[in-house]
Amino acid sequence: MSETRAINDVISLETVGKVGLVCIDNPPVNASSQAVRQGLLDAVAAANDDDAIEVIAIYAAGRTFVAGADIKEFGKPPLQPSLPDTINAIEASAKPVISAPHGTALGGGLEICMGTHARVGVKGLRVGLPEINLGLLPGAGGTQRGPRLMGMEHTLDMALSGRMVTGEEALGWGLIDRLEDGAPRDVALSAAEAVLDGTLPTRRTGELPVEVDDAALDAARKMVEKKMPNLASAPKCIEAVERATGSVEDGMKFERECFMSLLKHPSSEGMRHAFFAERAVSKIPEANATPREIRKIGVIGGGTMGSGIATAALTSGFAVRLIEVAQDGLDRGVGAITKNLDGAVKRGKMAADKRDAAMARLEPSLNMEDLADVDLVIEAVFEDMGVKKDIFGQLDKICKAGAVLASNTSYLDINEIASATSRPEDVIGLHFFSPANIMRLLEVVVADKTAPEVVATGFALAKKMKKIGVRAGVCDGFIGNRILAYYGKTAGYLVEDGASPQQVDQALENFGFAMGPFKVGDLAGLDIGWANRKRMAPNRPNAERYVRIHDKICEEGMFGRKTGQGFYIYDDNGIRPNPRTLEIIDEERAAKGITPKRFTDEEIVERYMTAMISEAARVVEDGIALRPIDVDAVFLFGYGFPRFRGGPLHYADTIGAKELVARIERFAEDDSYYWNVPDILRRMAADGTTFADLNKES
Ligand code: 3HC
Repeated sequence: MSETRAINDVISLETVGKVGLVCIDNPPVNASSQAVRQGLLDAVAAANDDDAIEVIAIYAAGRTFVAGADIKEFGKPPLQPSLPDTINAIEASAKPVISAPHGTALGGGLEICMGTHARVGVKGLRVGLPEINLGLLPGAGGTQRGPRLMGMEHTLDMALSGRMVTGEEALGWGLIDRLEDGAPRDVALSAAEAVLDGTLPTRRTGELPVEVDDAALDAARKMVEKKMPNLASAPKCIEAVERATGSVEDGMKFERECFMSLLKHPSSEGMRHAFFAERAVSKIPEANATPREIRKIGVIGGGTMGSGIATAALTSGFAVRLIEVAQDGLDRGVGAITKNLDGAVKRGKMAADKRDAAMARLEPSLNMEDLADVDLVIEAVFEDMGVKKDIFGQLDKICKAGAVLASNTSYLDINEIASATSRPEDVIGLHFFSPANIMRLLEVVVADKTAPEVVATGFALAKKMKKIGVRAGVCDGFIGNRILAYYGKTAGYLVEDGASPQQVDQALENFGFAMGPFKVGDLAGLDIGWANRKRMAPNRPNAERYVRIHDKICEEGMFGRKTGQGFYIYDDNGIRPNPRTLEIIDEERAAKGITPKRFTDEEIVERYMTAMISEAARVVEDGIALRPIDVDAVFLFGYGFPRFRGGPLHYADTIGAKELVARIERFAEDDSYYWNVPDILRRMAADGTTFADLNKES
């Protein structure tokens, strides 16, 4: 006989014999909202007051155990009871409390488990302390109870990497006590019965001793200094773990103070914005359309992009037909795919049998007619409108009805490409980023006539490929490359006016970019931008300031890394500034009569970021991006924008529209063609609104 009472909307207490089963039911991911915390407190108190109950077991309904604190509550006035108080009350319970987590027990969710007196995971469980990804540290006892259960080394590993750990690994470390098969409620019940019959021991984590692990603390400090210089939470996390040797009470006090002050830190605000950006981009007008079913994908072109896309598709379980015009090109494409997949196996990202199965799904062909049975085709040949239109004309004749016809173009007009077919509703842009098997961004470019279900198919494909699809409208360069084309010029202006490429790179790397723009240019190949500039030359307005430095470098056959020389020299001794390039820069300054100026690093960042924000604002204003947060996602997941800064338009809000307008007006005194205030920014400056307000509106 069982009896269930609702404690509140999200917590219930079921009595089964001598067991009190506490169920958390707060969809979608059982985040520990105020109601969950209050309910847990009340349920544990009620169970303690109930003479029929001897053991209390906590489990959750739905797809996962508690996935952490409720991130939506962050940044608002704190609501009582706090999670640490709730967990402390659970630990202090006179009657034993056990937990039976399933799915993912993350952050505060795992901390709830740590506070219970035994943990029996449901097979398939993964646990983690992902707070670091939000610019935080575990804030409900994780840094104190973690070392008591699994030692400092594993606690630091989990809390600094934020990675998810399998139940098996957690079991090996002592973080959980058992792993059982079954439904969460059944596992919770049988674990509680095991406590009753004395076969599952219980203890209070806070009463366990902690061993100092100096080696682990030292290693963590070194790693953080080297790899996480901009993350305020990382050193605090180490300090908190170090304090676990004292009382839990003192340690948790310190941990809480750090947590509360980090919540207000810009790096946490930026990272939380990035978390929501990753999810917000799937909210598109076509969300209710039914995606078409995709099993087999055709990829045209076996170059870097084509082979990367084919690799990503194969890895995600699709069959792929790879088309090239000549045997040697096809062989090179297959070779690149093989290398990509072998690399994934070597790095431990893919099992060898999965690689073999993926290769077995690859069908190379020299015949376009072989695309007759594919569900979706992605054209990834070089950027030439004539060639693309010819290919789409052929696809129109070859592909079956209902096939999605996609172009991977980085900037060409999808409407014009679609006009080469009799079925523009099936045509879409799927703009992958290089290397396509690694980069997470996928711009889904929606043309005038693209059908809603084709857009939905693009997003479903992104999800299946574990990529972040962002909806973009048609314009030269879509969201990312259009903005890049604009602010990229600033880097050239800064150098022509007096900064060195190295200073610009260093200033932006210090700002948080993984690589400065000149290093990125060298990596991507300077010839690519050169070709694009030649294409755009006939349309270049006379009033636009044009920096010839990049062209001059290319004219000397220096295309960056692939030729060993560009802005830098790359050889066996590593990377260093290229003296010939510095000469070219001097020659260009002399030819234009420019006396080189000194720039501070702050001035460099100010100009570069203001340019990026200006064009990003125009992209939102023109409706090319649905919302400011979509632009942020593009830069976070496709352009190495520092996550702790949240994206260009989140960063813009930290500066404020008024200041941005003032800056642009100041810069415009020297170059009124390039620098002009976007209308949207002027309006925001006038009415005091922010890009965050625009995100909320849409
Ligand atoms: N708080 C509030 N909302 C959350 C949330 C959380 N902790 N975790 C997920 N959500 C929301 C998402 O925003 C999304 O909402 P939407 O449908 O409106 O966009 C919805 O739940 C579903 O999330 P996903 O789309 O991410 O679902 P998946 O199934 O792909 O992934 C997950 C599930 C692995 C649990 C993933 O959501 C995740 O990693 N969540 C965040 C976990 C996390 O960072 N926890 C730590 C929080 S900080 C903390 O606990 C502090 C503590 O130490 C005091």
